[in-house]
Amino acid sequence: MDTFLEEGPKNPIKIQDNTFRDGHQSLLATRMRTEDMLPIAEKMDSVGFWAMEVWGGATFDTMHRFLGEDPFDRIRTLKKYIKKTPFSMLLRGQNLVGYRNYADDVARLFVDKACEAGMDVFRVFDALNDFRNFETVVERIKANGKHFQGTICYTLTERRMGGDVFNLAYYVDKAKEIQEMGANTLCLKDMAGIMSPFDIAKIIVELKKSISIPIQLHTHYTSGMASMVYLEAIKAGVDIVDTCLAPFALRTSQPAIEPIVATLYGTSRDTGFDLSLLLELGDYMETVAPKYRDYLAKNKMGVIDTGVLAHQVPGGMISNLVGQLKEAKALDRLAEVYKDVAITRKELGMPPLVTPTSQIVGVQSVLNVLFGRYKMVTNEVKDLAYGLYGRTPIPVDPEVQKKVLKNYKRGETPVTGRAADFLEPELEKAKAKVGDLAKDDFDLLIYTLYPTTGEQFLKWKYGLEERPTNVKPKTLEDIRKEDEAMAAAIEQVCKTI
Ligand code: CO
Repeated sequence: MDTFLEEGPKNPIKIQDNTFRDGHQSLLATRMRTEDMLPIAEKMDSVGFWAMEVWGGATFDTMHRFLGEDPFDRIRTLKKYIKKTPFSMLLRGQNLVGYRNYADDVARLFVDKACEAGMDVFRVFDALNDFRNFETVVERIKANGKHFQGTICYTLTERRMGGDVFNLAYYVDKAKEIQEMGANTLCLKDMAGIMSPFDIAKIIVELKKSISIPIQLHTHYTSGMASMVYLEAIKAGVDIVDTCLAPFALRTSQPAIEPIVATLYGTSRDTGFDLSLLLELGDYMETVAPKYRDYLAKNKMGVIDTGVLAHQVPGGMISNLVGQLKEAKALDRLAEVYKDVAITRKELGMPPLVTPTSQIVGVQSVLNVLFGRYKMVTNEVKDLAYGLYGRTPIPVDPEVQKKVLKNYKRGETPVTGRAADFLEPELEKAKAKVGDLAKDDFDLLIYTLYPTTGEQFLKWKYGLEERPTNVKPKTLEDIRKEDEAMAAAIEQVCKTI
Protein backbone atom coordinates (compact mmCIF):
# COMPACT_ATOMS: atom_id res chain seq x y z
CA MET A 1 0.00 0.00 0.00
CA ASP A 2 2.85 2.37 0.83
CA THR A 3 4.42 1.84 -2.56
CA PHE A 4 1.07 2.41 -4.22
CA LEU A 5 0.67 5.80 -2.62
CA GLU A 6 4.23 6.81 -3.44
CA GLU A 7 4.56 10.17 -5.19
CA GLY A 8 4.74 10.22 -8.95
CA PRO A 9 3.69 7.98 -11.83
CA LYS A 10 6.04 4.99 -11.50
CA ASN A 11 3.74 2.59 -13.31
CA PRO A 12 0.89 4.57 -14.90
CA ILE A 13 -2.27 2.57 -15.47
CA LYS A 14 -3.08 2.51 -19.18
CA ILE A 15 -6.59 3.31 -20.32
CA GLN A 16 -8.63 2.09 -23.27
CA ASP A 17 -11.55 4.34 -24.11
CA ASN A 18 -14.73 2.50 -25.13
CA THR A 19 -17.07 5.47 -25.59
CA PHE A 20 -17.40 4.94 -29.35
CA ARG A 21 -18.21 1.22 -29.11
CA ASP A 22 -19.20 -0.45 -25.86
CA GLY A 23 -20.45 2.80 -24.30
CA HIS A 24 -23.25 3.37 -26.77
CA GLN A 25 -23.70 -0.36 -27.38
CA SER A 26 -24.43 -0.86 -23.69
CA LEU A 27 -26.58 2.22 -23.13
CA LEU A 28 -28.05 3.29 -26.46
CA ALA A 29 -28.54 0.10 -28.48
CA THR A 30 -25.35 0.84 -30.50
CA ARG A 31 -27.07 3.68 -32.33
CA MET A 32 -24.39 6.38 -32.18
CA ARG A 33 -23.53 7.71 -35.61
CA THR A 34 -20.09 8.45 -36.99
CA GLU A 35 -20.97 12.13 -37.56
CA ASP A 36 -21.43 12.56 -33.81
CA MET A 37 -17.97 11.16 -33.09
CA LEU A 38 -16.08 13.42 -35.47
CA PRO A 39 -16.32 16.77 -33.66
CA ILE A 40 -14.21 15.41 -30.77
CA ALA A 41 -12.16 12.82 -32.62
CA GLU A 42 -8.94 14.86 -32.70
CA LYS A 43 -9.23 15.82 -29.05
CA MET A 44 -9.87 12.18 -28.09
CA ASP A 45 -6.64 11.34 -29.90
CA SER A 46 -4.75 13.80 -27.71
CA VAL A 47 -5.80 12.28 -24.35
CA GLY A 48 -3.18 9.55 -24.43
CA PHE A 49 -5.42 6.48 -24.42
CA TRP A 50 -3.66 3.14 -24.86
CA ALA A 51 -6.30 2.39 -27.48
CA MET A 52 -9.80 3.47 -28.48
CA GLU A 53 -12.41 0.82 -29.06
CA VAL A 54 -14.35 2.05 -32.07
CA TRP A 55 -15.65 -1.02 -33.87
CA GLY A 56 -16.78 -4.61 -33.59
CA GLY A 57 -19.35 -6.12 -31.29
CA ALA A 58 -22.77 -4.99 -32.48
CA THR A 59 -21.59 -1.93 -34.44
CA PHE A 60 -21.32 -3.76 -37.77
CA ASP A 61 -24.87 -5.06 -37.47
CA THR A 62 -26.58 -1.86 -36.32
CA MET A 63 -24.66 0.43 -38.66
CA HIS A 64 -25.69 -1.23 -41.90
CA ARG A 65 -29.11 -2.32 -40.65
CA PHE A 66 -30.41 0.70 -38.77
CA LEU A 67 -28.12 3.63 -39.51
CA GLY A 68 -27.58 3.08 -43.22
CA GLU A 69 -23.84 3.54 -42.64
CA ASP A 70 -21.06 1.47 -44.18
CA PRO A 71 -19.31 -0.17 -41.21
CA PHE A 72 -15.88 -0.14 -42.89
CA ASP A 73 -16.23 3.57 -43.64
CA ARG A 74 -16.43 4.35 -39.93
CA ILE A 75 -12.90 3.03 -39.39
CA ARG A 76 -11.54 4.91 -42.41
CA THR A 77 -13.25 8.16 -41.43
CA LEU A 78 -12.21 8.08 -37.78
CA LYS A 79 -8.66 7.23 -38.84
CA LYS A 80 -8.42 10.58 -40.62
CA TYR A 81 -8.85 12.36 -37.29
CA ILE A 82 -7.40 9.86 -34.84
CA LYS A 83 -3.87 9.28 -36.02
CA LYS A 84 -1.88 8.39 -32.90
CA THR A 85 -4.21 6.26 -30.80
CA PRO A 86 -4.51 2.62 -31.93
CA PHE A 87 -8.01 1.41 -32.81
CA SER A 88 -9.36 -1.62 -31.04
CA MET A 89 -12.23 -3.85 -32.05
CA LEU A 90 -14.18 -6.61 -30.38
CA LEU A 91 -14.07 -9.73 -32.51
CA ARG A 92 -16.28 -12.68 -31.62
CA GLY A 93 -13.78 -15.33 -32.73
CA GLN A 94 -15.22 -17.42 -35.54
CA ASN A 95 -18.51 -15.50 -35.10
CA LEU A 96 -16.67 -12.38 -36.32
CA VAL A 97 -19.22 -9.58 -35.89
CA GLY A 98 -22.25 -11.79 -36.34
CA TYR A 99 -24.17 -14.34 -34.33
CA ARG A 100 -23.07 -17.66 -35.80
CA ASN A 101 -19.83 -19.32 -36.81
CA TYR A 102 -18.70 -18.34 -40.28
CA ALA A 103 -16.55 -20.52 -42.50
CA ASP A 104 -12.76 -20.04 -42.44
CA ASP A 105 -12.65 -18.29 -45.83
CA VAL A 106 -15.03 -15.60 -44.53
CA ALA A 107 -13.07 -15.24 -41.28
CA ARG A 108 -9.78 -14.77 -43.14
CA LEU A 109 -11.15 -12.18 -45.54
CA PHE A 110 -12.88 -10.32 -42.72
CA VAL A 111 -9.68 -9.90 -40.69
CA ASP A 112 -7.67 -8.90 -43.78
CA LYS A 113 -10.20 -6.22 -44.74
CA ALA A 114 -10.57 -4.92 -41.18
CA CYS A 115 -6.76 -4.49 -41.11
CA GLU A 116 -6.84 -2.76 -44.48
CA ALA A 117 -9.54 -0.37 -43.26
CA GLY A 118 -7.34 0.60 -40.29
CA MET A 119 -7.95 -1.72 -37.36
CA ASP A 120 -4.97 -2.21 -35.03
CA VAL A 121 -5.91 -4.23 -31.94
CA PHE A 122 -8.11 -7.30 -32.17
CA ARG A 123 -9.77 -8.31 -28.93
CA VAL A 124 -10.76 -11.85 -29.76
CA PHE A 125 -13.15 -13.84 -27.63
CA ASP A 126 -15.17 -16.99 -27.88
CA ALA A 127 -18.45 -17.36 -26.08
CA LEU A 128 -17.49 -20.81 -24.79
CA ASN A 129 -13.83 -19.93 -24.10
CA ASP A 130 -13.01 -22.63 -26.64
CA PHE A 131 -9.87 -21.09 -28.09
CA ARG A 132 -9.84 -23.43 -31.07
CA ASN A 133 -12.36 -20.91 -32.37
CA PHE A 134 -9.58 -18.26 -32.41
CA GLU A 135 -7.18 -20.16 -34.63
CA THR A 136 -8.21 -18.88 -38.05
CA VAL A 137 -8.57 -15.19 -37.15
CA VAL A 138 -5.36 -15.18 -35.09
CA GLU A 139 -3.40 -16.54 -38.04
CA ARG A 140 -4.59 -13.53 -40.12
CA ILE A 141 -4.12 -10.96 -37.34
CA LYS A 142 -0.51 -12.10 -36.98
CA ALA A 143 0.03 -12.27 -40.75
CA ASN A 144 -1.10 -8.64 -40.99
CA GLY A 145 1.30 -7.66 -38.20
CA LYS A 146 -1.50 -6.51 -35.90
CA HIS A 147 -2.07 -6.81 -32.16
CA PHE A 148 -3.77 -10.00 -30.95
CA GLN A 149 -5.49 -9.60 -27.64
CA GLY A 150 -6.65 -12.98 -26.37
CA THR A 151 -9.75 -12.82 -24.22
CA ILE A 152 -11.19 -14.93 -21.44
CA CYS A 153 -14.90 -14.45 -20.83
CA TYR A 154 -15.34 -14.11 -17.09
CA THR A 155 -18.30 -15.86 -15.59
CA LEU A 156 -19.49 -17.41 -12.35
CA THR A 157 -21.75 -20.10 -11.07
CA GLU A 158 -21.58 -19.04 -7.42
CA ARG A 159 -21.94 -15.69 -5.69
CA ARG A 160 -18.14 -15.33 -5.75
CA MET A 161 -15.43 -16.92 -7.89
CA GLY A 162 -15.07 -20.61 -7.09
CA GLY A 163 -16.95 -23.87 -7.45
CA ASP A 164 -16.17 -26.75 -9.79
CA VAL A 165 -16.00 -24.93 -13.10
CA PHE A 166 -15.08 -21.23 -13.06
CA ASN A 167 -12.49 -21.14 -10.27
CA LEU A 168 -9.06 -19.51 -10.00
CA ALA A 169 -7.34 -22.49 -11.67
CA TYR A 170 -9.72 -22.20 -14.63
CA TYR A 171 -8.70 -18.58 -15.29
CA VAL A 172 -4.99 -19.22 -14.80
CA ASP A 173 -5.06 -22.20 -17.18
CA LYS A 174 -6.98 -20.23 -19.78
CA ALA A 175 -4.54 -17.32 -19.51
CA LYS A 176 -1.57 -19.61 -20.05
CA GLU A 177 -3.30 -21.10 -23.07
CA ILE A 178 -3.77 -17.61 -24.52
CA GLN A 179 -0.16 -16.65 -23.95
CA GLU A 180 0.94 -19.86 -25.66
CA MET A 181 -1.18 -18.92 -28.67
CA GLY A 182 1.05 -15.89 -29.13
CA ALA A 183 -1.23 -13.20 -27.75
CA ASN A 184 0.29 -9.73 -27.31
CA THR A 185 -2.01 -8.99 -24.38
CA LEU A 186 -4.60 -10.81 -22.31
CA CYS A 187 -8.08 -9.44 -21.68
CA LEU A 188 -10.35 -10.54 -18.88
CA LYS A 189 -13.82 -9.72 -20.10
CA ASP A 190 -16.50 -9.37 -17.47
CA MET A 191 -19.43 -8.67 -19.76
CA ALA A 192 -22.07 -9.07 -17.05
CA GLY A 193 -20.36 -6.90 -14.43
CA ILE A 194 -20.38 -9.73 -11.91
CA MET A 195 -16.70 -9.70 -11.02
CA SER A 196 -16.12 -8.81 -7.39
CA PRO A 197 -13.23 -6.62 -6.16
CA PHE A 198 -11.38 -9.16 -4.05
CA ASP A 199 -11.73 -11.91 -6.64
CA ILE A 200 -10.07 -9.77 -9.29
CA ALA A 201 -7.25 -8.91 -6.91
CA LYS A 202 -6.68 -12.61 -6.38
CA ILE A 203 -6.76 -13.34 -10.11
CA ILE A 204 -4.37 -10.50 -11.05
CA VAL A 205 -1.83 -11.51 -8.39
CA GLU A 206 -1.95 -15.11 -9.61
CA LEU A 207 -1.82 -14.19 -13.32
CA LYS A 208 1.17 -11.92 -12.77
CA LYS A 209 3.02 -14.98 -11.45
CA SER A 210 1.88 -17.21 -14.31
CA ILE A 211 2.08 -15.13 -17.49
CA SER A 212 4.29 -12.31 -18.76
CA ILE A 213 2.04 -10.50 -21.29
CA PRO A 214 0.19 -7.34 -20.15
CA ILE A 215 -3.26 -7.85 -18.65
CA GLN A 216 -6.26 -5.73 -19.57
CA LEU A 217 -9.52 -5.68 -17.66
CA HIS A 218 -12.94 -5.10 -19.17
CA THR A 219 -15.99 -4.86 -16.97
CA HIS A 220 -19.47 -3.37 -16.86
CA TYR A 221 -20.97 -1.23 -14.15
CA THR A 222 -24.21 -3.25 -14.14
CA SER A 223 -24.07 -4.61 -10.59
CA GLY A 224 -22.39 -1.51 -9.14
CA MET A 225 -19.07 -3.20 -8.26
CA ALA A 226 -17.03 -2.06 -11.26
CA SER A 227 -15.22 0.95 -9.76
CA MET A 228 -14.19 -1.13 -6.75
CA VAL A 229 -13.10 -3.90 -9.11
CA TYR A 230 -10.86 -1.49 -11.01
CA LEU A 231 -9.31 -0.04 -7.88
CA GLU A 232 -8.43 -3.47 -6.51
CA ALA A 233 -7.16 -4.61 -9.92
CA ILE A 234 -5.02 -1.48 -10.27
CA LYS A 235 -3.57 -2.00 -6.81
CA ALA A 236 -2.85 -5.63 -7.69
CA GLY A 237 -0.97 -4.57 -10.82
CA VAL A 238 -3.36 -4.85 -13.78
CA ASP A 239 -1.85 -3.07 -16.79
CA ILE A 240 -4.81 -1.64 -18.72
CA VAL A 241 -8.48 -0.94 -17.91
CA ASP A 242 -11.43 -0.03 -20.13
CA THR A 243 -13.48 3.09 -19.41
CA CYS A 244 -15.91 5.50 -21.05
CA LEU A 245 -16.41 9.24 -20.80
CA ALA A 246 -18.87 9.87 -17.96
CA PRO A 247 -22.02 10.52 -20.06
CA PHE A 248 -21.58 7.14 -21.74
CA ALA A 249 -20.39 5.32 -18.61
CA LEU A 250 -21.97 3.61 -15.59
CA ARG A 251 -25.36 1.83 -15.74
CA THR A 252 -24.69 -1.21 -17.97
CA SER A 253 -21.64 0.46 -19.53
CA GLN A 254 -18.02 0.74 -18.29
CA PRO A 255 -16.81 2.74 -15.29
CA ALA A 256 -16.24 6.43 -16.00
CA ILE A 257 -12.69 7.61 -16.66
CA GLU A 258 -12.89 10.90 -14.73
CA PRO A 259 -13.18 9.54 -11.15
CA ILE A 260 -10.39 7.04 -11.88
CA VAL A 261 -8.06 9.81 -13.01
CA ALA A 262 -8.89 11.79 -9.87
CA THR A 263 -8.54 8.77 -7.57
CA LEU A 264 -5.11 7.81 -8.86
CA TYR A 265 -3.78 11.35 -8.99
CA GLY A 266 -0.40 11.50 -7.24
CA THR A 267 -0.13 7.73 -6.75
CA SER A 268 2.36 5.45 -8.44
CA ARG A 269 -0.37 4.52 -10.91
CA ASP A 270 -1.34 8.08 -11.86
CA THR A 271 -2.75 8.11 -15.42
CA GLY A 272 -1.06 11.41 -16.20
CA PHE A 273 -4.23 12.47 -18.06
CA ASP A 274 -5.50 16.04 -18.25
CA LEU A 275 -8.75 15.98 -16.26
CA SER A 276 -10.01 19.27 -17.69
CA LEU A 277 -9.64 17.91 -21.22
CA LEU A 278 -11.73 14.88 -20.21
CA LEU A 279 -14.42 17.16 -18.75
CA GLU A 280 -14.52 19.10 -22.00
CA LEU A 281 -14.94 15.87 -23.97
CA GLY A 282 -17.69 14.77 -21.58
CA ASP A 283 -19.49 18.09 -22.08
CA TYR A 284 -19.51 17.46 -25.79
CA MET A 285 -20.92 13.95 -25.33
CA GLU A 286 -23.76 15.46 -23.27
CA THR A 287 -24.76 17.55 -26.29
CA VAL A 288 -25.15 14.54 -28.59
CA ALA A 289 -26.71 12.23 -26.00
CA PRO A 290 -30.28 13.66 -26.28
CA LYS A 291 -30.48 12.48 -29.87
CA TYR A 292 -30.25 8.90 -28.66
CA ARG A 293 -31.75 8.96 -25.22
CA ASP A 294 -34.95 7.18 -26.30
CA TYR A 295 -32.82 4.05 -26.31
CA LEU A 296 -31.83 4.50 -22.69
CA ALA A 297 -33.63 2.23 -20.26
CA LYS A 298 -35.68 4.57 -18.11
CA ASN A 299 -38.09 2.22 -16.38
CA LYS A 300 -36.40 2.39 -13.01
CA MET A 301 -34.78 4.82 -10.63
CA GLY A 302 -31.62 2.82 -9.87
CA VAL A 303 -28.74 3.06 -12.31
CA ILE A 304 -27.38 -0.28 -11.13
CA ASP A 305 -29.11 -3.62 -11.27
CA THR A 306 -28.52 -5.35 -7.98
CA GLY A 307 -30.40 -8.40 -9.28
CA VAL A 308 -27.37 -9.17 -11.47
CA LEU A 309 -25.54 -10.18 -8.30
CA ALA A 310 -28.03 -13.01 -8.01
CA HIS A 311 -28.96 -13.95 -11.60
CA GLN A 312 -25.72 -13.03 -13.48
CA VAL A 313 -27.62 -11.94 -16.57
CA PRO A 314 -25.58 -9.44 -18.64
CA GLY A 315 -26.98 -5.99 -19.41
CA GLY A 316 -27.48 -6.52 -23.14
CA MET A 317 -29.26 -9.77 -22.45
CA ILE A 318 -31.65 -8.11 -20.00
CA SER A 319 -32.83 -5.62 -22.63
CA ASN A 320 -33.28 -8.47 -25.15
CA LEU A 321 -35.35 -10.49 -22.67
CA VAL A 322 -37.50 -7.46 -21.89
CA GLY A 323 -37.94 -6.75 -25.61
CA GLN A 324 -38.96 -10.32 -26.37
CA LEU A 325 -41.41 -10.52 -23.49
CA LYS A 326 -42.88 -7.15 -24.41
CA GLU A 327 -43.53 -8.40 -27.91
CA ALA A 328 -45.24 -11.50 -26.50
CA LYS A 329 -47.19 -9.22 -24.12
CA ALA A 330 -45.77 -11.24 -21.22
CA LEU A 331 -43.48 -8.76 -19.48
CA ASP A 332 -44.95 -9.85 -16.15
CA ARG A 333 -43.13 -13.17 -16.52
CA LEU A 334 -39.64 -11.65 -16.43
CA ALA A 335 -38.88 -13.05 -12.96
CA GLU A 336 -39.70 -16.58 -14.16
CA VAL A 337 -37.42 -16.10 -17.15
CA TYR A 338 -34.52 -15.03 -14.92
CA LYS A 339 -34.96 -18.23 -12.92
CA ASP A 340 -35.14 -20.33 -16.06
CA VAL A 341 -31.96 -18.75 -17.45
CA ALA A 342 -29.90 -20.31 -14.62
CA ILE A 343 -31.39 -23.76 -15.22
CA THR A 344 -31.26 -23.67 -19.02
CA ARG A 345 -27.70 -22.39 -18.92
CA LYS A 346 -26.56 -25.34 -16.82
CA GLU A 347 -28.42 -27.81 -19.02
CA LEU A 348 -26.75 -26.34 -22.11
CA GLY A 349 -23.22 -26.86 -20.74
CA MET A 350 -22.79 -23.76 -18.58
CA PRO A 351 -21.71 -21.34 -21.32
CA PRO A 352 -20.52 -17.90 -20.22
CA LEU A 353 -23.39 -15.52 -21.03
CA VAL A 354 -22.07 -13.35 -23.84
CA THR A 355 -23.03 -12.88 -27.50
CA PRO A 356 -24.19 -15.22 -28.96
CA THR A 357 -24.65 -17.67 -26.06
CA SER A 358 -26.52 -15.05 -24.02
CA GLN A 359 -29.07 -14.74 -26.84
CA ILE A 360 -29.22 -18.51 -27.34
CA VAL A 361 -29.87 -19.19 -23.65
CA GLY A 362 -32.11 -16.12 -23.28
CA VAL A 363 -34.41 -16.90 -26.21
CA GLN A 364 -34.70 -20.54 -25.15
CA SER A 365 -35.55 -19.50 -21.59
CA VAL A 366 -38.32 -17.24 -22.84
CA LEU A 367 -39.68 -20.11 -24.96
CA ASN A 368 -39.39 -22.48 -21.98
CA VAL A 369 -41.41 -20.13 -19.80
CA LEU A 370 -44.04 -19.28 -22.41
CA PHE A 371 -44.58 -22.72 -23.97
CA GLY A 372 -43.14 -25.30 -21.55
CA ARG A 373 -39.55 -26.49 -21.22
CA TYR A 374 -38.00 -27.41 -24.60
CA LYS A 375 -41.48 -27.73 -26.17
CA MET A 376 -40.14 -25.29 -28.75
CA VAL A 377 -36.41 -25.36 -29.45
CA THR A 378 -34.49 -22.82 -31.55
CA ASN A 379 -32.06 -23.96 -34.25
CA GLU A 380 -29.25 -22.27 -32.32
CA VAL A 381 -29.89 -24.45 -29.27
CA LYS A 382 -29.80 -27.52 -31.52
CA ASP A 383 -26.51 -26.33 -33.04
CA LEU A 384 -25.06 -25.67 -29.58
CA ALA A 385 -26.12 -29.10 -28.29
CA TYR A 386 -24.67 -30.69 -31.44
CA GLY A 387 -21.27 -29.05 -30.82
CA LEU A 388 -21.32 -26.52 -33.65
CA TYR A 389 -20.23 -23.67 -31.38
CA GLY A 390 -17.40 -25.67 -29.83
CA ARG A 391 -16.82 -27.32 -26.49
CA THR A 392 -19.04 -26.13 -23.63
CA PRO A 393 -17.36 -25.68 -20.21
CA ILE A 394 -19.30 -28.66 -18.84
CA PRO A 395 -21.07 -31.33 -20.92
CA VAL A 396 -24.59 -30.56 -22.13
CA ASP A 397 -27.18 -32.36 -20.00
CA PRO A 398 -27.58 -35.73 -21.79
CA GLU A 399 -31.36 -35.79 -21.49
CA VAL A 400 -31.76 -32.27 -22.83
CA GLN A 401 -29.26 -33.04 -25.57
CA LYS A 402 -31.25 -36.09 -26.66
CA LYS A 403 -34.48 -34.14 -26.62
CA VAL A 404 -33.26 -31.15 -28.64
CA LEU A 405 -31.31 -33.22 -31.18
CA LYS A 406 -34.28 -35.44 -32.03
CA ASN A 407 -34.65 -35.28 -35.83
CA TYR A 408 -31.89 -32.64 -36.03
CA LYS A 409 -30.85 -32.17 -39.67
CA ARG A 410 -27.14 -32.91 -39.10
CA GLY A 411 -27.71 -36.01 -37.00
CA GLU A 412 -28.49 -36.98 -33.44
CA THR A 413 -24.92 -37.73 -32.30
CA PRO A 414 -22.99 -34.60 -31.23
CA VAL A 415 -19.56 -33.74 -32.69
CA THR A 416 -16.40 -32.72 -30.81
CA GLY A 417 -14.04 -31.11 -33.35
CA ARG A 418 -13.22 -27.43 -34.02
CA ALA A 419 -16.50 -25.75 -34.87
CA ALA A 420 -15.51 -24.29 -38.25
CA ASP A 421 -14.23 -27.66 -39.50
CA PHE A 422 -17.86 -28.59 -40.03
CA LEU A 423 -18.56 -25.61 -42.26
CA GLU A 424 -18.28 -25.44 -46.04
CA PRO A 425 -16.52 -22.42 -47.57
CA GLU A 426 -19.04 -19.62 -48.08
CA LEU A 427 -17.44 -16.83 -50.10
CA GLU A 428 -17.82 -18.19 -53.64
CA LYS A 429 -21.48 -18.95 -53.11
CA ALA A 430 -22.09 -15.51 -51.64
CA LYS A 431 -20.23 -13.88 -54.52
CA ALA A 432 -22.43 -15.68 -57.03
CA LYS A 433 -25.58 -14.69 -55.18
CA VAL A 434 -24.81 -11.02 -54.60
CA GLY A 435 -23.44 -10.49 -58.11
CA ASP A 436 -22.62 -6.95 -59.22
CA LEU A 437 -24.26 -5.42 -56.18
CA ALA A 438 -21.00 -5.99 -54.27
CA LYS A 439 -18.37 -3.73 -55.82
CA ASP A 440 -15.45 -4.99 -53.72
CA ASP A 441 -14.50 -7.37 -50.90
CA PHE A 442 -15.82 -4.97 -48.27
CA ASP A 443 -19.29 -5.09 -49.85
CA LEU A 444 -18.99 -8.83 -50.25
CA LEU A 445 -18.35 -9.18 -46.51
CA ILE A 446 -21.35 -7.05 -45.59
CA TYR A 447 -23.48 -9.31 -47.76
CA THR A 448 -21.90 -12.59 -46.59
CA LEU A 449 -22.20 -11.74 -42.91
CA TYR A 450 -25.73 -10.37 -43.18
CA PRO A 451 -27.34 -11.62 -46.42
CA THR A 452 -30.77 -10.00 -45.99
CA THR A 453 -30.00 -6.69 -44.32
CA GLY A 454 -26.61 -6.54 -46.08
CA GLU A 455 -28.23 -6.76 -49.51
CA GLN A 456 -30.71 -4.08 -48.47
CA PHE A 457 -27.87 -1.87 -47.30
CA LEU A 458 -25.94 -2.26 -50.55
CA LYS A 459 -29.06 -1.19 -52.47
CA TRP A 460 -29.18 1.96 -50.36
CA LYS A 461 -25.46 2.49 -50.68
CA TYR A 462 -25.55 2.47 -54.48
CA GLY A 463 -28.78 4.44 -54.78
CA LEU A 464 -30.82 1.53 -56.17
CA GLU A 465 -33.38 2.04 -53.45
CA GLU A 466 -34.13 5.03 -51.31
CA ARG A 467 -33.33 4.78 -47.63
CA PRO A 468 -36.52 4.82 -45.57
CA THR A 469 -36.76 7.80 -43.26
CA ASN A 470 -36.47 5.68 -40.14
CA VAL A 471 -32.83 4.88 -40.89
CA LYS A 472 -32.10 8.57 -40.92
CA PRO A 473 -31.08 10.02 -37.58
CA LYS A 474 -33.37 12.04 -35.36
CA THR A 475 -32.24 15.64 -35.33
CA LEU A 476 -31.89 17.69 -32.17
CA GLU A 477 -34.83 19.71 -33.49
CA ASP A 478 -36.99 16.55 -33.59
CA ILE A 479 -36.00 15.78 -30.00
CA ARG A 480 -36.81 19.31 -28.87
CA LYS A 481 -40.27 19.08 -30.47
CA GLU A 482 -40.89 15.74 -28.78
CA ASP A 483 -39.79 17.18 -25.46
CA GLU A 484 -42.18 20.10 -25.86
CA ALA A 485 -45.02 17.75 -26.77
CA MET A 486 -44.20 15.60 -23.74
CA ALA A 487 -44.08 18.62 -21.43
CA ALA A 488 -47.46 19.78 -22.75
CA ALA A 489 -48.94 16.33 -22.20
CA ILE A 490 -47.62 16.19 -18.64
CA GLU A 491 -49.02 19.65 -17.93
CA GLN A 492 -52.41 18.52 -19.23
CA VAL A 493 -52.37 15.46 -16.95
CA CYS A 494 -51.33 17.57 -13.95
CA LYS A 495 -54.28 19.90 -14.53
CA THR A 496 -56.78 17.06 -14.43
CA ILE A 497 -55.65 15.52 -11.12
CO1 CO B 1 -18.42 -5.06 -22.85
